[in-house]
Amino acid sequence: MAEHQADSEPRTDFSSTVSGQMQNRVLVVTIDNPPVNAISAEVRSGLMAALAHLAQTPDATAMVLTGAGRTFIGGADIREFGKPPVDPILPTVIAALEASDKPVIAALNGAALGGGLEVAMACHRRIAVRTASLGLPEVKLGIVPGAGGTQMLPRLVCAIPALGMIASGKPVPSAEALTIGLVDDVSGSELIGDAIDMALCPNSISPRRTSQLALPAFDTATYETEVQKILKKARGERAPAEVVRLVRLAMEVPFAEGLAEERATFLRLRDSEEAAALRHVFFAERSAGKVDGLEATPLTLATIGIAGTGLMGCGIAVATLAAGYDVIALDQTVEAAEKGRDRIAGLLAQSVKSGRLAQADADAQLSRLTVTATITDMAPADLVIEAVFDDLDGKIDLFRRLDDVLRPDAILATNTSYLDPDTIAAATAFPTRVVGLHFFSPAHIMRLVEVVRCAKSTDTALATALAFARKIRKLPVVTGVCEGFIGNRIFSAYRSEAERLIEEGALPQDIDRAMEDYGFPMGLFAVYDMAGLEIAWARRKRQAATRDPLAPYFEIPDRLCEAGRFGAKSGRGWYVYPDGKRSVDPDVTAMIEAYRLEKGLTARLIDDAEIIQRLLAAMAREGDALLAEGIAARPGDIDIVLVNGYGFPARKGGPMFAASR
Ligand code: 3HC
Repeated sequence: MAEHQADSEPRTDFSSTVSGQMQNRVLVVTIDNPPVNAISAEVRSGLMAALAHLAQTPDATAMVLTGAGRTFIGGADIREFGKPPVDPILPTVIAALEASDKPVIAALNGAALGGGLEVAMACHRRIAVRTASLGLPEVKLGIVPGAGGTQMLPRLVCAIPALGMIASGKPVPSAEALTIGLVDDVSGSELIGDAIDMALCPNSISPRRTSQLALPAFDTATYETEVQKILKKARGERAPAEVVRLVRLAMEVPFAEGLAEERATFLRLRDSEEAAALRHVFFAERSAGKVDGLEATPLTLATIGIAGTGLMGCGIAVATLAAGYDVIALDQTVEAAEKGRDRIAGLLAQSVKSGRLAQADADAQLSRLTVTATITDMAPADLVIEAVFDDLDGKIDLFRRLDDVLRPDAILATNTSYLDPDTIAAATAFPTRVVGLHFFSPAHIMRLVEVVRCAKSTDTALATALAFARKIRKLPVVTGVCEGFIGNRIFSAYRSEAERLIEEGALPQDIDRAMEDYGFPMGLFAVYDMAGLEIAWARRKRQAATRDPLAPYFEIPDRLCEAGRFGAKSGRGWYVYPDGKRSVDPDVTAMIEAYRLEKGLTARLIDDAEIIQRLLAAMAREGDALLAEGIAARPGDIDIVLVNGYGFPARKGGPMFAASR
């Protein structure tokens, strides 16, 4: 790397977010628009001014474009979507970058996403730090790239990887970007110096324009197979199919024509209901887990205790180990604890087998796991998460024993789904350190975690639980205490309304078909069959003595269980499963009809539109109640829970968003 003088040169501001400085006859332009250097109107005008300055400054032989902070450019400014466009628009900036007579080098200091990658691709060469990621995630927002992404990427990396990247929205790391030809080099340690060297290198003297590159050859059969996979996976989403069409155009029509069609498609999708819903989900996910007025500093955690090594405990352990923590897993007997270790090792082995985890990393993670049947071994834990059987006395007993073992400042989290965490907390020596961490199964895969703020939880306990959830790469949503918290309470309302619909004349398969058409991966009754009906039956039997005899009670689930129909595993439940395939069972229809007759209920025809409308309205009503009771802080929090934990289609935005339209 050559010596580059920097600090002595004056800085030129091209706008409030874009500035430049001469270094070795190269104009180094930095975008500084926190938090992610989104290409707002200010950034776009700054870039145009920088390019004009480059053209007019004889001393400047080339330009290096980089970002301040950890991100190169996080994409177009999503907050501008839906507002009147402000010139210069991004395609204008992209065209100007590419057209520059002097070489422009993109120095990727971090993520280059969406419009950010389009800016980088319009530059004449690209160099990235090792930790950068490059991608076109627009499909996740229900749109397609709008400033040339679908036309430039195939020219740079060939149509097959381009199609995969754009249709999945998944970014690639620098090393892979180098392999496929998306970047020209990966910088060792001094990005700007290396980028300046690249700019001054004789190879860079004539700008290499992406739009003029010939499309690399590829195997059309493989390409068509990829297309079929993408279309099958799209499940009614519009953007992936449009991506397929646009990438094909890149091969068939001149660059300018492809670009114009891409822009028109981008604008059409950007203004669609689906894109509005996905934008809502994007911002709601980023607001979730933020608590007004919570300023406490989270405690530093190193060792996490997990009590209970069933499926849930082991899933939590895998997520926790992956984040770098030491884990002590407790079970009742040495045999059970060892079984837990085997299960955790098995989950890690699955990740290795699927290529998601390197063997060395799996070994390192497993070396941080201790299993035990001796509660005093939990003493070093900074946070203990209990994931034992959902029984109040059992949990209280465990927490009391932990009281005697743990430091008083250690946090205690219960993973209960239905029990009252305030009752558990009240039975402990330090109720202030108790919170809820309600994971979803399988816990090493599902992102959602409901973080339960108990009546006496301190701000520190809450802040620590939130920081922990984020560290293990989960999506935390704060909930107050009520039966079922946010998710199961809404789900209960959904279930009750579905039961009412059955009483009025709908059949389970009608309800499932309507909700699957709406976008749920599985209807309610199919989900019940998959989960198994016997656990809820056992719970209902336990609660029978305390149930209000006058309250409405839907008896069909009990009757199914009494008839030995426990769901898919037993071959029969709400449906029947010949050869494992879900099919309507006339016996269940007869059972429902007999039930209606017995109760004096008259069936009527209920169409899919009414089913959808009634079920959505029931969820939204319950959501309003959760907001009124202060259990959920924001409608968006409720949407995030339903989208991430219950299969509510993201492209509909969640029940609260859907109700607001
Ligand atoms: N526009 C506006 N705001 C954005 C944004 C964007 N493109 N990307 C992130 N933000 C905001 C977030 O809302 C959040 O705001 P908040 O602090 O007020 O809640 C803040 O930036 C930080 O975001 P994250 O919490 O996500 O920060 P991380 O550091 O975890 O991740 C990131 C950074 C990887 C850049 C991530 O934010 C991300 O994936 N952003 C979206 C990328 C994207 O989808 N880009 C495509 C946009 S569409 C486009 O470019 C169209 C083009 O083709 C024309």
